[in-house]
Parts: sequence; structure tokens; C-alpha cells
Amino acid sequence: MKKIFGITMSILLAISLSNCTKDVGPVEEPNPSADNVSFTQDIQPIFDQNCISCHPNSGNLDLTAAHAYNQLVNINASGYSGKRVVPDAPENSVLYKKIDGSGTYGSNMPLGGSLSATQINSIKQWIIEGAKNN
Ligand code: HEC
Repeated sequence: MKKIFGITMSILLAISLSNCTKDVGPVEEPNPSADNVSFTQDIQPIFDQNCISCHPNSGNLDLTAAHAYNQLVNINASGYSGKRVVPDAPENSVLYKKIDGSGTYGSNMPLGGSLSATQINSIKQWIIEGAKNN
């Protein structure tokens, strides 16, 4: 009887100690709302500066602020078979393949120029983070 009590007590002690370290340890839980790239703050300004001179109309694609998001995410490209933006999958997104210099879908954008590596990466990262309207 005494032995069982001793074992029970050590189990209880072990449990309470492990709970204790759990509580005291550093709290570093992933925060799903802490996205790095914002569509409004980071992506739309790239379109404003480099794309909207041609893209209220060209390629049936309007990249002006009032329309860009709704014309991109999960929308079929007009000139290619594929979606303009597939959330989480830049490599399957016509928009990304149109700016990454790959030539997968004809001319690179912006037509006659190119985006900076930082801008290209922001668009890629925005898609990787789920292409949110944030
Ligand atoms: C000088 C004019 C011009 C500029 C600037 C321009 N584009 Fe284009 N874009 C076009 C034309 C013309 C087409 C249609 C031919 C083609 O698909 O290449 C097109 C097509 C596209 C398509 C394919 C649309 C579809 O559904 O078939 C995407 C995506 C695109 N552009 C993205 C962009 C982005 C992003 C920018 C800015 C970084 C940009 N373009 C800047 C002229 C332009």
C-alpha cells in the first residue's frame, strides 16, 4: 500500500512538474493573422506604378485598385489556360509567371520592362501567404 502511494505521488509530481515547465517556457505560438505582405499596402502600389497604364483593358485585365483583387484570385486568365492567381501556388499562377522572367505565358510584364527582384518577391510571397485581400 505504501509503495503504491509512493508511485502515485511520483507520477503526480512528474505531471505537475511537466505542466510547470510548459507554463513557464517562452510563449512562441504561430500567429496566423501576422501576415507579412498586404495586398493593399504592398501589392496594389506595384500595380499602380507599373501596370495600370495598360491594365484597365489590356489582356482583359483591370489592375486598378477598385478591380484588381477581384480580377485576379481564382479567375481564369483570358489569354491562357490557367488561373491568374492560385492561392498558395505562385508557380501555378499566370500573374506570377508573367512577371518572373520565365516566359511561360508569352511576354514578360510590365510589357517592355521588368519589376525589381523585391517587387517580384513581394507578389510571390503574397500568393504563398494565401493571396488574401488584406
Ligand atoms: C505597356 C503595356 C502593358 C503594361 C505596362 C503591362 N501590361 Fe500586362 N499585358 C499587356 C498586354 C498587351 C497583354 C495581353 C498580351 C499578353 O498576354 O501578353 C497583357 C497581359 C497580361 C496578363 C495576362 C492576362 C490574361 O488573363 O491573359 C497579365 C497577368 C498581366 N498582363 C500582368 C501585368 C502586370 C502585373 C503588369 C505590371 C507589373 C503589367 N501586366 C503591365 C500590356 C501591358
